[in-house]
Amino acid sequence: MKEQFMSAKCGSLPAGRHGASGGKKILIANWKMNLSLGQSLNFIKKIAKTKNEVVIAAPFTFLCEMGKHLKRKKIKLAGQNVSQFKEGAYTGDVSARMLKEEGCTFCLVGHSERRIYFKETDKEINQKILQLLKYGIRPVLCLGENLAQRRKKLTKKIITKQLITGLWDIKKPEKILIAYEPVWAISTFQKSKIKHSATTADIVKIHLIIKAALKRLYKNKSKTIKILYGGTVNPKNVKEILKLKIVDGALVGGASLKISSFNAIIKSI
Ligand code: PGA
Repeated sequence: MKEQFMSAKCGSLPAGRHGASGGKKILIANWKMNLSLGQSLNFIKKIAKTKNEVVIAAPFTFLCEMGKHLKRKKIKLAGQNVSQFKEGAYTGDVSARMLKEEGCTFCLVGHSERRIYFKETDKEINQKILQLLKYGIRPVLCLGENLAQRRKKLTKKIITKQLITGLWDIKKPEKILIAYEPVWAISTFQKSKIKHSATTADIVKIHLIIKAALKRLYKNKSKTIKILYGGTVNPKNVKEILKLKIVDGALVGGASLKISSFNAIIKSI
């Protein structure tokens, strides 16, 4: 089972380009709270011709203007977060309907920075996913264990709980993407100057756990759910990671902020 997913050469799909879910591999840039509007417009101008599946999770305030420049382009827009509420007196929140109006077709949910800094719970994350699905926006459910949990060998338990609670009451999983982002591999949470991604063996192991949990939840319907990896993906390691058949794409933070490095990543898929 593990070996089947180690190499993209296994199975009938062309090496590297397609994941275990059958679809093309997808790259999501998570810009977090970085760049200016001018820089973001210049950025998309430079990568606009890509034919690959590229999504940019940009700050809310850039989305509208970026959307105008991305009409008829392959690049899609994502929110980095969404309110768990439909509408109302929730100062500072942005609803799924608003994201839709801005042209978003994807949205990150439950990123570890939201879970850790803003104390988002699995239950809130689930409500956010439900809101997004109502408006046809594809949720990217981010999950992953922290270092202490990994050391205590709690990874499987944590991931399974995040998955089951996050997907509670969701009957149609086809639009959902999962991003496995071990907290200890995300560059922002690493203290050393040199950042480390998870090893390919770690990635395969946890993706298999996620796949099995999804299968228990959704039976055959789980097959098309894309599972991405995120955590210090960069031009140096992206090929090795995306060569894994079980990896349907990558969620890229730090390395998506420079045109040169993100372009190198795009070209490698
Ligand atoms: P990183 O961030 O690629 O800088 O580790 C990934 C993320 O936070 O989504």
